[in-house]
Amino acid sequence: MDTLVSPIAEVVRAGLSARKKTLPPWLFYDAAGSALFEQITSLPEYYLSTMERELLMNHASAVMDRCADSRNLDIYELGAGSARKTVHLLRAALARSGATQYHPMDISLDAMEGAVRHLALELPALPVRPEVTDFTRAVPAPGSRFADGRKLMLWLGSSAGNYEPAEAVRILRRVTASMNKGDCLLLGMDLAPEEGGKPMRDLMAAYEDAAGVTALFNKNLFVRLNRELGADFDLDSFEHEARWNAAASCIEMHLVSRREQRVRIDALEEKFHFDSGESVHTENSYKLSTERLKSLLCDAGFPLEIVWTDADHWYGLFLGEKS
Ligand code: TRP
Repeated sequence: MDTLVSPIAEVVRAGLSARKKTLPPWLFYDAAGSALFEQITSLPEYYLSTMERELLMNHASAVMDRCADSRNLDIYELGAGSARKTVHLLRAALARSGATQYHPMDISLDAMEGAVRHLALELPALPVRPEVTDFTRAVPAPGSRFADGRKLMLWLGSSAGNYEPAEAVRILRRVTASMNKGDCLLLGMDLAPEEGGKPMRDLMAAYEDAAGVTALFNKNLFVRLNRELGADFDLDSFEHEARWNAAASCIEMHLVSRREQRVRIDALEEKFHFDSGESVHTENSYKLSTERLKSLLCDAGFPLEIVWTDADHWYGLFLGEKS
């Protein structure tokens, strides 16, 4: 008899069979993972969210003036999550004379439901058309309700940095293929530490917080495999570790085995061997310079128009316009 195979099974088999074990970052975002990430965004050490919120609050009307003016506007958001950070922009969009529609996209159904509930309370006048999708693999269809309107694509939270720059460009080109000349893209990105002299200590602390929420978030990956694939990961025998890869200018997230061990995964009918100190690489978070982000936007087809940063250049909002 055929057994029902989980859609994540083969991805996990491939990742754990590789010489350098890896698991793809979208696996983080089940219901529990999305909720834990939401907690990360309010940690004192996670300056990325604080800074982005501030920049969005201060510059929301400027973004709207540049992207839509008084025309109708369809706003799309990749990996919208709870959409808490987007509220300032959406409020500024509604304050214009043109009509606005919001299309949040996320891989997590729970996150999308949360976003819809939150927005119904905060901005009851805003039409919301959520889409549960893995936009890195499936092609979402940014159709527009407003034939005469503009489109604005948002990719906030430094999430584009979770892909290799070339991969981020590929994703952007695909999801913006149906956008028109004059439509805009807004990227929120954590900047390279050398850019403004962000101390390494602050950068690392954002990924190794004192309360251990990031460690729980990272390990939730194994919790998920235990539940969904019948794996027997012993959570205490793995350690959360953030490493700075200076050559690639990225933070690497690892789960490091504290001892030699074997982990059985029932759904794969296989055991995976871990040496003591061997890691599973779970995520990258690239920290690019303004110069590199400028060329990334250009490659994606949205030459840079405006950058907003904090006084110390830790974080930036990058607005490009489709050429
Ligand atoms: N986009 C977030 C970032 O790169 C994702 C993230 C934050 C993350 N903290 C994490 C991913 C910890 C894995 C582990 O900052």
